[in-house]
Amino acid sequence: MGALSDLRRDALVRLMKVGSSRAGVARVGDLEVRVAPGVCHPAPFGGVSFAPLFTAALDGLRDGDRVLDLGTGCGIWALLAARAGGRVTATDLSHVDLTSIAAAATAHGLAAPRLLHGDLFAPVAGERFDRVLFNPPFHFGEPRDDAERAYLGGADGEVVKRFLREVPAHLDEGGRAYVILPAHERAGYQADLSAHRVRDVRSVWLPVLGRVHLLALG
Ligand SMILES: C[S@@+](CC[C@H](N)C(=O)[O-])C[C@H]1O[C@@H](n2cnc3c(N)ncnc32)[C@H](O)[C@@H]1O
Repeated sequence: MGALSDLRRDALVRLMKVGSSRAGVARVGDLEVRVAPGVCHPAPFGGVSFAPLFTAALDGLRDGDRVLDLGTGCGIWALLAARAGGRVTATDLSHVDLTSIAAAATAHGLAAPRLLHGDLFAPVAGERFDRVLFNPPFHFGEPRDDAERAYLGGADGEVVKRFLREVPAHLDEGGRAYVILPAHERAGYQADLSAHRVRDVRSVWLPVLGRVHLLALG
């Protein structure tokens, strides 16, 4: 379990559910993508969003670099990566409808990301990338339905922990992975993070979540 009290986590999960069920449109600059009901909103409480972390993770991306956006949700990070010149593969679990991502790519004149369904690296078995991006379900707790899989990664945080174990096998030489974690959940992943060279790249303060960090691995 992470460092949060059960009471605080329960309140936080309820609030996340409200924020994440806010279907509509996600915007970063001039990029717009539809967020279907039940799909995680990158600005769950309006206004400030994960966008500064998304853009920091794309810094230095070269034309044609292979980018994997795991758990892409509405696909905004994948589209930003495509606009930065990446050849993007975006994945998510089977209940997440990825069709709006292709439509948004066309509307913005971007190459459509390769869109795949499946658990973590299963859809890209044997493949390596220059950059792997993951804004994971970082809270500790067992999801009771598909919508909760957006922010609950298992009672023991197994989704993030599995990601941390498996990501090295999917990075090309010189490749880098980026993962987003809120400060209050980081202690729960410390043992697994310690297997990596971790660099704190950037942080933002978000309502409900507090200070949230972009970590570079590798
Ligand atoms: C916090 S949301 C992030 C969505 C989007 N990347 C963003 O930043 O707005 C986490 C996403 O990971 C997906 N997810 C959860 N567990 C997963 C798994 N085991 N494999 C692949 N995707 C997963 C969820 O469906 C959800 O879309």
